[in-house]
Amino acid sequence: MSYQNNLLLDVLHDREVSRPPVWVMRQAGRILPGYRKIRASVPSFKHLVKRPDLISVVSVEPLDELDVDAAILFSDILVIPEAMGVDYEIVEKKGPIFERPITQPSDIKRLISGTDTLEKLTYVFDSIGTTKKRIDNRVPLIGFSGAPWTLFAYMIEGSGSKTFAKARRFLYEHPVASHELIERITETIIAYLKEKVNQGCDVIQLFDSWAGMLTIEQYQIFCVPYIDKIFKALEGTPRIFFPKGAWSAVPYFKDLEFEAISLDWNTPIDYVRKHLGKQQIIQGNLDPAILYANPDVIKRAVVAKINEAGGRHIFNLGHGVYPDTEASNVKTMIQSVKEYEY
Ligand code: CP3
Repeated sequence: MSYQNNLLLDVLHDREVSRPPVWVMRQAGRILPGYRKIRASVPSFKHLVKRPDLISVVSVEPLDELDVDAAILFSDILVIPEAMGVDYEIVEKKGPIFERPITQPSDIKRLISGTDTLEKLTYVFDSIGTTKKRIDNRVPLIGFSGAPWTLFAYMIEGSGSKTFAKARRFLYEHPVASHELIERITETIIAYLKEKVNQGCDVIQLFDSWAGMLTIEQYQIFCVPYIDKIFKALEGTPRIFFPKGAWSAVPYFKDLEFEAISLDWNTPIDYVRKHLGKQQIIQGNLDPAILYANPDVIKRAVVAKINEAGGRHIFNLGHGVYPDTEASNVKTMIQSVKEYEY
């Protein structure tokens, strides 16, 4: 498959390009007026996530508004916990709240997992065809999932947290049950991402947003083997891994099979290439807070970042764009990437 603008797939397939492709984590969100209007027309975030007709509009808006080189299928990582039986709501100013989190090992028994969850996720799969139609072969479509530990962390904690102390306590108190739950989440992620690919997603990204909460040993024991299983199951589809904050675990990613690693802004690109090889494709890792600065500062930072990466690079932020960022500054960043020539 090849698109009118094939830059992202070109980089992921190691083909030569004249500039890095650019897309923005959370590009389909509150920075865009169209998103805010559609979001205001439905009673809650979850209503939006479950409407394939609206998902396709929201996913494609960044192509028209921001001129990015890829679309990402609008959804949330929390659709998997919900499909497994741990329901959530997004509460204004608080973030995700789960009414009945997992508090003890026996709670795991009530969950469903693997392909059994797929019938509860049809609203996601049903949105892919319409989104592809709206994209009309302009760019590739990225599909995503949370990584096992990050989903485990929300399912145990019951909300966002500065420390995820309940989830980390569970790992120490109930290691066997922790492995059991992480295994069941892993099977669900595999079924979910395979179906996203079957329905037309061209690239997948695995968000391990809370990777940086764990010790290196815990990341090796509770994360790496499961992520390995997921990436192996998705062989043939370009895979992007975002282990946010887990710079100390980077040496242990050497044997994982992924095409690109997405870095937060604290993790130096050359440090990662030192451990994973000069050839490693890097996504990122501009500090999202730079987008509060004036356009000249942004332009200079973009050029410096592309020079720092020195090729084999997908331009992006080090994390999702902050919702109160001016869209015009995001556009300045994207245009600056597009003006760059290797
Ligand atoms: O990148 C994109 O444009 C696709 C959209 C996307 C959303 N969530 C939409 C969303 C993506 C890729 C996600 C992933 C996600 N969700 C992650 C991993 C990425 C990361 O940021 O680390 C995480 C940890 C979540 C969980 C989540 N969902 C939180 C913590 C929140 C509340 C915080 C917030 O931004 O409000 C959400 C809700 C959410 N997911 C919103 C959007 C646009 C905002 C809710 C709203 O508009 O009402």
